Amino acid sequence: MRTKVGVIGAGHVGECTAMYLAERNIADIVLVDIIEDMPKGKGLDLSQAGPIRGYDCYVTGSNDFADLKGCSIVVHTAGLPRKPGMSREDLITKNADIIADCAGKVKEYAPDAMILMVANPLDIMTYHAYKVSGFPTNKVFGQAGVLDSTRFRMFVAQELGVSMNDVQALVLGGHGDTMVPLPRYTTVGGVPITELISADRIQAISDRTRTGGGEIVKLLKTGSAYYAPAAASVQMVDAVLSDRKRVLPLSAHLTGQYGINDLYIGVPAVLGADGVEKVIELELGKEELESLQKSAGIYKDMLKVLGY
Ligand code: 2OP
Repeated sequence: MRTKVGVIGAGHVGECTAMYLAERNIADIVLVDIIEDMPKGKGLDLSQAGPIRGYDCYVTGSNDFADLKGCSIVVHTAGLPRKPGMSREDLITKNADIIADCAGKVKEYAPDAMILMVANPLDIMTYHAYKVSGFPTNKVFGQAGVLDSTRFRMFVAQELGVSMNDVQALVLGGHGDTMVPLPRYTTVGGVPITELISADRIQAISDRTRTGGGEIVKLLKTGSAYYAPAAASVQMVDAVLSDRKRVLPLSAHLTGQYGINDLYIGVPAVLGADGVEKVIELELGKEELESLQKSAGIYKDMLKVLGY
C-alpha cells in the first residue's frame, strides 16, 4: 500500500502543503475540509499537475474525515488565521474547538497516525491535540520552529549577501512574540553570526523574525503567511516518512528539559520515523534560558484558558 498523508484544512496553508508534498512524490495525499466539494476540486487540480511537474502521487480532496484512514501522518492546518493587529494567542478559544473536533476524528479514523500541528496559537493547539487524541507525545508535535528559523535564515542571508542555503539558524521558544532566536547557534558556513554581524543588526534581525508572521499578516490584509509555513511542514513530514533523523526546532512535549515540565514549546529535536525521537537539551546562557522559561510561563498560563 502507498504511503498516505492527511492534510486537514484546504485553505492556503493546506493546499500549499499538499502541493509541496506532491512535488516530493513520496506519498499520496488526502486533503480534507468541511467546505462542500472545494477540497475535491483542489485535489483534482493538483493531481492533474502531476504529469507536467513530474510526480505520480495523487491528491484526493474529501469532505469525509473517514478518508484519513491509513494515513501515517496528518498535518492539521484548519483554523482561523489572524487579522491585522491580532496576536496568535487571540485565536485560542476560536481554534480550540476546531482542533478538538479534528483531533477526535484523527483518533477515530487514523489511530496510528502522527499529528503535525500548524494552527495557532501553535504550542497551545499542539498540547490540545495531544490531550484530545490521547496519542503518545512523540507522535504529536508542532511545526513552528522550522518556520521561525527559515525566516531568520533568510534575513541573515540577505544581511550578508550570501546563499540562504549556507545559513543554519535556531529559534526556540513559543511561536509568538516571545520566541527566542539564538544568534550563538546561528551560523554561516559554520561561522557563528556573532562574528559576522554587529550586535545592533543581530538585534534588529531577531526582532524582525519575532514579528515576521505579523509583518505578513499586515501586508496581506486578509489571512496570514502560507508558503513558508507549508514548506516548513513538508520538511517535517519528509523527515518522518523518510526517517531522516533531521535535527529541527519544533514544538515538542517537555518533561523537565530546560526546567520546563508538561508543556509543548519550541526546542531542537530529532525527527524521524518514530516522530520526535529525542529532545536535544542545549547548553543555554543565563539570559537565553530565562527567555525560554519566560516564554514557557506565558504558555502555561494560556493552557489554563482551556482548562488544563
Ligand atoms: C506565521 O508565523 C501563520 O503563525 C504563522 O506566519
